[in-house]
Amino acid sequence: MYRTHTCGELRISDVNKQVTLAGWVQRSRKMGGMTFIDLRDRYGITQLVFNEEVNADLCEQANHLGREYVIQVKGTVNERYSKNANMPTGDIEIIVSELSVLNTAQTPPFTIEDNTDGGDDIRMKYRYLDLRRNAVRKNLELRHKMTIEVRKYLDSQGFIEVETPLLIGSTPEGARDFVVPSRMNPGQFYALPQSPQTLKQLLMVSGFDRYFQIAKCFRDEDLRADRQPEFTQIDCEMSFVEQDDVINLFEGMAKYLFKELRGVELTEPFQRMPWSEAMKYYGSDKPDLRFGMKFVELMDILKGHGFSVFDNAAYIGGICAEGAAHYTRKQLDALTEFVKKPQIGAKGMVYARVEADGNVKSSVDKFYSQDVLQKMKEAFGAKPGDLILILSGDDAMKTRKQLCELRLEMGNQLGLRDKNKFALLWVVDFPMFEWSDEENRLMAMHHPFTHPKDEDIPLLDTNPEAVRADAYDMVCNGVELGGGSIRIHDAQLQAKMFEILGFTPEKAQEQFGFLMNAFKFGAPPHGGLAYGLDRWVSILAGLDSIRDCIAFPKNNSGRDVMLDAPGCLDQKQLDELHLIVDIKE
Ligand code: AMO
Repeated sequence: MYRTHTCGELRISDVNKQVTLAGWVQRSRKMGGMTFIDLRDRYGITQLVFNEEVNADLCEQANHLGREYVIQVKGTVNERYSKNANMPTGDIEIIVSELSVLNTAQTPPFTIEDNTDGGDDIRMKYRYLDLRRNAVRKNLELRHKMTIEVRKYLDSQGFIEVETPLLIGSTPEGARDFVVPSRMNPGQFYALPQSPQTLKQLLMVSGFDRYFQIAKCFRDEDLRADRQPEFTQIDCEMSFVEQDDVINLFEGMAKYLFKELRGVELTEPFQRMPWSEAMKYYGSDKPDLRFGMKFVELMDILKGHGFSVFDNAAYIGGICAEGAAHYTRKQLDALTEFVKKPQIGAKGMVYARVEADGNVKSSVDKFYSQDVLQKMKEAFGAKPGDLILILSGDDAMKTRKQLCELRLEMGNQLGLRDKNKFALLWVVDFPMFEWSDEENRLMAMHHPFTHPKDEDIPLLDTNPEAVRADAYDMVCNGVELGGGSIRIHDAQLQAKMFEILGFTPEKAQEQFGFLMNAFKFGAPPHGGLAYGLDRWVSILAGLDSIRDCIAFPKNNSGRDVMLDAPGCLDQKQLDELHLIVDIKE
């Protein structure tokens, strides 16, 4: 028997037991005639003791163990003299009587402890060692629990898990496809699914009624902290439902998951915020509602007083940071630099402090009387000690997005983005289309199968940009956790949608003929949603990046540095796949 107990198991009640443990040497310390070793496995750490006076040979062997050696020990559980309250096994230690080395190990490239000295790159290269660390393993354990609870919940609601293929054709979700060449069909390619969207709709045509799948999805897009090229969705679809049915069911699931996985009871119904309101007051379709600082528009108050920047602006708006009037000139200059960074792109920032006597002191005092500044103060409901920050610009939407970045930054600086606080909401009534300068045509904001709001259908012919969609996103702490929509189930309306999106009937038939044909055989009204599993786990675990809850993630250039992928193919493989590689400089 390799072991009688794990390294996280033994307690004071086990004192005097004869035990066998196996695990990795995390570290060893020599103190006088005693050698102490921390033995680690997935379950915890147990202290081993070797006493030179009792068994000099054994102690000598222990002194030669290197970090990460795999060993097995037999010994007696002993009450520790100096207990460690921070460790579950901290009351005991093992007086070792037998030691065998099961495997040696090279010195690891970084220390495998909670606070490691390894940088990101080296930890990714040796990810299998990084995964020995508590912090990373814990996230994967949570992910495991999450998928179990998701399956339990959805099963209890009558959902059936169905697997759909990975080698399919293009699925339009707005990103580039990853493609796979077909050996048996020269010159032809599969595309990996950006989501199982069209397949789950076909399952509704098949009468499955309630489908789900924990599905791998692939999107070739620029990577960020919350984006990986391959990620996992909890993908769901339901028949005979309206928007409220879908929202209510998945809000129930969200509450269940928060309770089971974090012990957090979310009792109130989640707020439902129209997209237009989210953009107007937070400059984002995924507002972080853990804190206030709602935008206040100031065109009426601040335009026309001789300050040319504001006088020429199409939008002037600001936020009020409560109690932040103590910000120094240096801090305010740094904020100005922050909003002027190229990725944010503001031209400058105006600030105003509300002083103890209620007077407002601003960086543009020479253009504004105290009367006007007081009006501005009232618009914010600002109090003495508050700091007002204002941006302006010639494009309202762009300026709101800049103000959004400033709001989030102030939230960070003032410690308002507490990872143990959860602010959930639904963003609803998205526009159906958005204009793409790149494509020079309207694009579907969600996807082309999304149903317009019934009352907006007449606008499809006259003013498509004003059409709102029956689409909804669930947002938590400024992260889009999931999204979905009610679908078009009528072949004619679907054809019209493709037409507005600039598809010729032939092109629509070629790309989506299978779906439009299926709709001719009795498609039920249906709708659904997909949650991002990786994002859910990182919110629940308070992570900064979804990479930390993925066993083997890609880096920001889409590389797996451990496997050194992607890589080149040899000529034989290229020939079999009928591929010629021609890299242009
Ligand atoms: P959508 O494109 O909004 O909808 O995706 C659903 C959810 O998937 C997660 N997600 C990602 N997570 C990590 N990395 C990525 N690159 C990534 N892209 C998306 C997000 C997002 O909210 N078929 C529709 C769903 C539907 O209509 O039912 C879809 O895929 O959490």
